[in-house]
Amino acid sequence: MAELKTSYLGLPIKNPLVAGASPFTLQLDVVRQLEDSGAGAVVMHSLFEEEITHESLELDYFLNKGTESQPEAQTYLPEPRNIETVADKYIAQLRKIKESVEIPVIASLNGTTPGGWVRLARELQAAGADALELNIYTLVTDPTLSSDQVEKNYISLIQEVCKHVSIPVAVKLSPFLTTLPRFLARAYKAGAEGFVLFNRFMQPAFDIESLEVERKARLSTSADLALPARWIAIASSQLEADFALSGGVHSPEDMVKAIMAGAKVSYVVSALLANGVKFAERLLKGLNAWMDKNGYESVEKMRGTLRLDKIENPAAYERANYLRTLKSFDERVL
Ligand SMILES: Cc1cc2nc3c(=O)[nH]c(=O)nc-3n(C[C@H](O)[C@H](O)[C@H](O)COP(=O)(O)O)c2cc1C
Repeated sequence: MAELKTSYLGLPIKNPLVAGASPFTLQLDVVRQLEDSGAGAVVMHSLFEEEITHESLELDYFLNKGTESQPEAQTYLPEPRNIETVADKYIAQLRKIKESVEIPVIASLNGTTPGGWVRLARELQAAGADALELNIYTLVTDPTLSSDQVEKNYISLIQEVCKHVSIPVAVKLSPFLTTLPRFLARAYKAGAEGFVLFNRFMQPAFDIESLEVERKARLSTSADLALPARWIAIASSQLEADFALSGGVHSPEDMVKAIMAGAKVSYVVSALLANGVKFAERLLKGLNAWMDKNGYESVEKMRGTLRLDKIENPAAYERANYLRTLKSFDERVL
């Protein structure tokens, strides 16, 4: 039996399979099943800034509206301190999860402005989160914003949060940053200990009959693995930080690829949504069998064997190879 132990963000983890941020953590039973099926750690669904902002605007509106029109309406309204907010519910769920399982639990914040995030990050730490994932997930549509401004905002958010918590912080990014290696280096300097590559934007679906655009969550396939694997192979050769691969892990071989690229852990979401959380058990059994068959005694030893600086042909990760790949198609077509 191969040794699957690993560590992530300084946390000892029994194996590299982590249940990534998803609705799994809305139900305690499901989190317990994930632990029973062998998951090494679990990331909670994100607490979204929009939800909190929307909620507090709504609350302000109703409290003020009531008091302006009918002073006596004040008595019907709950005291603000007695209202359970989205954040309170999230923190309560985190506490319950921490009481129910022994594996590390990573809380996830989705925010774009520093302000309240520092307070929330501290509350999540106090509620027992083993680590914090900052899910920086914005689609920049403002044509006046420069990439430098956007990145500066991200870095100051990361810096602020890291300054105010003692638990490790990982940053989950989208693949659409122009100069990812530089951004990662700056974020690492700002205090992030790890990076989750990548988050996935929900792409709009165009209904050409009703002329509507809907938001649809598409599950990934193994074909989605190439993008995060490539970037982890590059970035883990440049930075000491921990990397989690997120996107396209559907088989034991996909887990092997993630580890060989240099990831400390591989996140799995779509595969568990599609096959049920017990599928984690099959992934881990398969990983063990593959490692035994191919003579790898531990995940530690297997890690990074396909990193940019370890392979004979680093151009495979770079644009130089693009030409050759296109030519291979030319030969088949012509
Ligand atoms: C239904 C669903 C809900 C998700 N919710 C979150 C979330 O709350 N926070 C987050 O950071 N990522 C969320 N994700 C993204 C996943 O954590 C993951 O990054 C992405 O699905 C790629 O991994 P996969 O290929 O294993 O699915 C969600 C994904 C799905 C499919």
